[in-house]
Amino acid sequence: MPALVLLGAQWGDEGKGKATDLLGGSVDYVVRYQGGNNAGHTVVVGDQKYALHLLPSGILSPGCTPVIGNGVVVDPSVLLSELSGLNERGVDTSKLLISGNAHIITPYNVTVDKVTERFLGKRKIGTTGRGIGPTYADKINRVGIRVQDLYDESILTQKVEAALDVKNQILTKLYNRRAIAVEQVVEELLGYAGKLAPYVADTVLVLNQALEEDKVVLFEGGQGTLLDIDHGTYPFVTSSNPTAGGACTGAGVGPTKISRVIGILKAYTTRVGAGPFPTELFDEDGEALRRIGGERGVTTGRDRRCGWFDAVIARYATRVNGLTDFFLTKLDVLTGWEQIPVCVAYEIDGRRVEELPYSQTDFHHAKPVYEMLPGWSEDISKAKSFSDLPKNAQNYVKALEEMSGAPISAIGVGPGRDETIEINSFL
Ligand code: GDP
Ligand code: IMO
Ligand code: MG
Repeated sequence: MPALVLLGAQWGDEGKGKATDLLGGSVDYVVRYQGGNNAGHTVVVGDQKYALHLLPSGILSPGCTPVIGNGVVVDPSVLLSELSGLNERGVDTSKLLISGNAHIITPYNVTVDKVTERFLGKRKIGTTGRGIGPTYADKINRVGIRVQDLYDESILTQKVEAALDVKNQILTKLYNRRAIAVEQVVEELLGYAGKLAPYVADTVLVLNQALEEDKVVLFEGGQGTLLDIDHGTYPFVTSSNPTAGGACTGAGVGPTKISRVIGILKAYTTRVGAGPFPTELFDEDGEALRRIGGERGVTTGRDRRCGWFDAVIARYATRVNGLTDFFLTKLDVLTGWEQIPVCVAYEIDGRRVEELPYSQTDFHHAKPVYEMLPGWSEDISKAKSFSDLPKNAQNYVKALEEMSGAPISAIGVGPGRDETIEINSFL
């Protein structure tokens, strides 16, 4: 049972970093397969807190090899500063492997991300401004720059020229910005080549050989199911596939190798950026979830939008990812509410709808149908087993499990590694 995928079941920030880190001690490889430094994964080890953006959360487990797969987009300056930040804190990062096929977020991709958002005005996506969308667009348009291009100056120059040909027209004529010089970009990118060289590898080969040797490989998703470019709330999504299939294309591993798909599910819902969110709260309950849950973006520092748990979304995540398990996080945040509303279905234009509507218009009109579950007031942060939880907390978990379509195999009761109740082993 060697290959597991761990991914966000909602709109990101479900606690993937903590869950990955928890498993990191028992797996041989942790692989990021999509996204880039739009991700912000928090890991708390003892009294130390780490915010990871591009590096897989397995980097904090000494026995584990962290891998940045071909499906990831890499901003070299961010990667290098993340590495040196960890080195300064005594973390050994020498095992890191980076796919030579991963695409590079160039400075002009970051510029285009920012000006496009500004140009969209009220219709903006609310991106992280890290150049993610434009870099994936270049990849699909076949004018992207890959990590391996850093090692051939002539090819790199030709590719940057090709990419900037069109972009400079757009920047100067449409957005009224200054053109970006090819030489400047090439020089900056070549400056990263030597520093990244020790890490660059044929990660597809490495991972497939590892699987043949029965090594355990964990694929760590960035973002979440509802931010998926194909299966999310398009156009208010990111530009990659965080869903389970993305692990195969983004790492070069066949679907027959994946044995378990774990959905990380927050006990309530949050979202950063624009787009529909049926259970969003605009009252003091939303404020309380934000405050108690510390719901502020790790990457951009934006307040996260908060709302109650949405079982329609959880069921959808089970379906599109083929989830085998859920890891329910932040149950402790719900302590103290007398009653906890849970969205069990939507009402759309007078109809009750049990499953996520494929139509964007319908989803925009979806109003949550709530069922009230009794809350608990006891501190649950020290709970070590399911039976340590107060009865009402147990019932809340059981109700969510029933509604969501896959077993809840672990429960987070605090941000620390050990603040976890393990119900079924993942390995
Ligand atoms: P990610 O992007 O999915 O890795 O999640 P983030 O790190 O952006 O946000 C999750 C936040 O919740 C982080 O601050 C974590 O330290 C914290 N966290 C994770 N699991 C739990 C939990 O079970 N309880 C509490 N209180 N905090 C948690
Ligand atoms: P982690 O991995 C939450 C959101 C942005 C925006 C949309 C598109 O920490 O869960 P992008 O910069 O990707 O083009 O922005 O996606 N977004 C996230 N929201 N958590 C994330 O990552 C996110 N990464 C991107 O806020 O709405
Ligand atoms: Mg995050």
